[in-house]
Amino acid sequence: MSTNALDAIAKAHVPVLRDDVLRLIAPRDGGVYVDVTLGRGGHAEAILEASAPSGRLVGIDRDETAIRETRERLSRFGERVRFVHGAFSGLRAHLASAGTPRVDGLVADLGVSSPQLDTAERGFSFKSEGPLDMRMDTSSGKTAREVIADMDERELADVLFQYGEERKSRPIARSIKRAEADGRLETTLDLSRAIWRVTGPRRVGIDPATRSFQALRIVVNAELGELEALLDALPDVLVDGGVAAIISFHSLEDRPVKHALKADPRLEVIGKKPIEANEDEARDNPRSRSAKLRGAKRLPRAEDPAEVSP
Ligand SMILES: C[S@@+](CC[C@H](N)C(=O)[O-])C[C@H]1O[C@@H](n2cnc3c(N)ncnc32)[C@H](O)[C@@H]1O
Repeated sequence: MSTNALDAIAKAHVPVLRDDVLRLIAPRDGGVYVDVTLGRGGHAEAILEASAPSGRLVGIDRDETAIRETRERLSRFGERVRFVHGAFSGLRAHLASAGTPRVDGLVADLGVSSPQLDTAERGFSFKSEGPLDMRMDTSSGKTAREVIADMDERELADVLFQYGEERKSRPIARSIKRAEADGRLETTLDLSRAIWRVTGPRRVGIDPATRSFQALRIVVNAELGELEALLDALPDVLVDGGVAAIISFHSLEDRPVKHALKADPRLEVIGKKPIEANEDEARDNPRSRSAKLRGAKRLPRAEDPAEVSP
């Protein structure tokens, strides 16, 4: 895609809670930042602009397409930005190899991106026909089709219940496994139809396939384990006084974030409640409606008896 076309898309893209993220992280000239969920680079771009002329940023994403396209889009920042194809679980190593083991600010905007959801071939959408893939990193790991094949009906039902909070998990799992046995489970719409056979199609509100797709996506991408690894690395990768800003979109993400920030004696939670979108943003950007932003500051290491030098 040409730089102009990418720029046009980017102009229309205002990242979720951008101004609140900037207020928390307070980027400054000369600062060093990491965006661990680079995506289309909306937050990264805002941080690079706010930390001009010499602030630097490492942009990490496990999606190679996102890295490739955003590298092109943010090329005007030159050497100020480094791109890493990788996951949260390698955060310490990614930062070390980028030459910035500690950063002044970190942003994480969890979940899938709009381009991932909207590109049928990625297999995330229950609305458009695509392969049953759902991997954010298409270079490794098992596809949703393979993950389903590896589970028996009971395990599949547990996944739908636990990660999708799907109350009809058992009949849905049965319907999916039946479709698989009949050779009718190759595409996203095959999966949607197996779910709709139990729930009926959407009448009002969210589509009933949403929950099961979410559950499978979480398992395919080991999202909760990845989040745990990110939360574990946070206090190590922030400089004293450095700030992390984490946006989550459902309670399975928000709960561990809230708990980890609160429980870690090396961090100080910022604000009593999570920041949510105001009415204007919620109207203009539907994705922001379920967003919860939590911030925490790294306390000085001198006051941290357990601290050992890196
Ligand atoms: C919601 S999007 C981020 C959007 C971005 N803030 C922007 O302004 O365009 C989330 C991105 O994080 C990436 N991602 C999710 N989990 C990840 C993980 N464990 N490690 C690295 N990247 C991850 C996804 O591939 C996706 O591109």
